[in-house]
Amino acid sequence: MKRKINWGILGLGKIANKFASDLQLSPNAVLYSVASRNEKKAKSFSEKYNSVKFYTSYEELADDPQIDVIYVATPHSFHFEHTMMCLKKGKGVLCEKPMGLNFPEVEMMSREARSRNLFLMEGMWTRFIPATNKLLEILENKEIGDVLFMRADFGFKGNTDPEGRLYNKELGGGSLMDLGIYPIYLSILALGIPLEIKSTARMTTTGVDAYCSMLLNYENDAKAILETTIEADTPTEAYIYGSNGSLKLHRSFHHSEKITVSRDGHQEVFNLEYNGNGFIYEIEEVNECLRNGKIESSKLPLNTSHEIIKIIDRIKEDIGLKYESKLPTKNL
Ligand SMILES: NC(=O)c1ccc[n+]([C@@H]2O[C@H](COP(=O)([O-])OP(=O)(O)OC[C@H]3O[C@@H](n4cnc5c(N)ncnc54)[C@H](OP(=O)(O)O)[C@@H]3O)[C@@H](O)[C@H]2O)c1
Repeated sequence: MKRKINWGILGLGKIANKFASDLQLSPNAVLYSVASRNEKKAKSFSEKYNSVKFYTSYEELADDPQIDVIYVATPHSFHFEHTMMCLKKGKGVLCEKPMGLNFPEVEMMSREARSRNLFLMEGMWTRFIPATNKLLEILENKEIGDVLFMRADFGFKGNTDPEGRLYNKELGGGSLMDLGIYPIYLSILALGIPLEIKSTARMTTTGVDAYCSMLLNYENDAKAILETTIEADTPTEAYIYGSNGSLKLHRSFHHSEKITVSRDGHQEVFNLEYNGNGFIYEIEEVNECLRNGKIESSKLPLNTSHEIIKIIDRIKEDIGLKYESKLPTKNL
């Protein structure tokens, strides 16, 4: 019998809770220990999840010799620092999305992991859910022909606290980094890498994008229109149009449980429910990679994370958005 993978969780916020709950669903994984800067939070999180070991410093968690992989669940602006710290202490990492604030950060994280022969993957959990597997099958089999154009939006009315994660520039706030990454990733799956991007944004008084729209052009003249906002609830649907039909990823498209394919006047509906909060599929992918000695997932390799952040960087440049990186300046 293959051994169970011991997980640590670093940063015990909202997403860490959902993730820990899905970890309980895996027969191949154990939530071994958790770390928060706040003792009370660490203790109550631990009590909620089978009284696992808890630490009040992230470094102590990364020093725990029993842990195989650490889930980094801090705000975007800390992903680089916390992931690098874990890698330097010899731990594999599943890092929440976006993996870094810019390409130089993500590239350096990848280099660190590869040079130490350690596992690293971006927490783009939607890659592994049943709907994405079905989507890829439909596209690969050309069931809607060649993709001509697509559109996708992701918007909700977020907490406007200027100190909160969504509006605070120091925490990597804004809609592009938090939500825009999902339609961007979908556009990569459907159309690949764009030749040209035109973007426009509405900025908050805190200096991050509250709304961003993006028009992407591809080599074969295919197009994508993507929209994202933290100012309003939007349909959060995706439509992909091909030479032979079209498909809709129903709300919320990035973790859809329903795809409708329309072709020759007929509609076919696929119901694609997922278990728990939907994180169990990426958890199993990491378990499988670690058990097989793989340092990258072939379904979500680090090169894909490079492509994602490079597109985000091009959009940031277009809309005049720049974050303060903790990367040594000689690397920028
Ligand atoms: N995959 C998804 O569906 C999904 C959904 C939401 C968010 N996310 C990603 O997950 C990350 C965390 O999001 P979240 O919604 O869980 O955020 P959150 O609730 O604010 O939690 C973030 C945690 O990071 C830690 N932290 C360390 N330094 C911090 C600082 N200076 N300010 C604030 N928190 C700090 C805190 O943990 P301690 O106090 O315990 O140390 C905090 O609880 C983000 O990068 C986000 O993009 C992913």
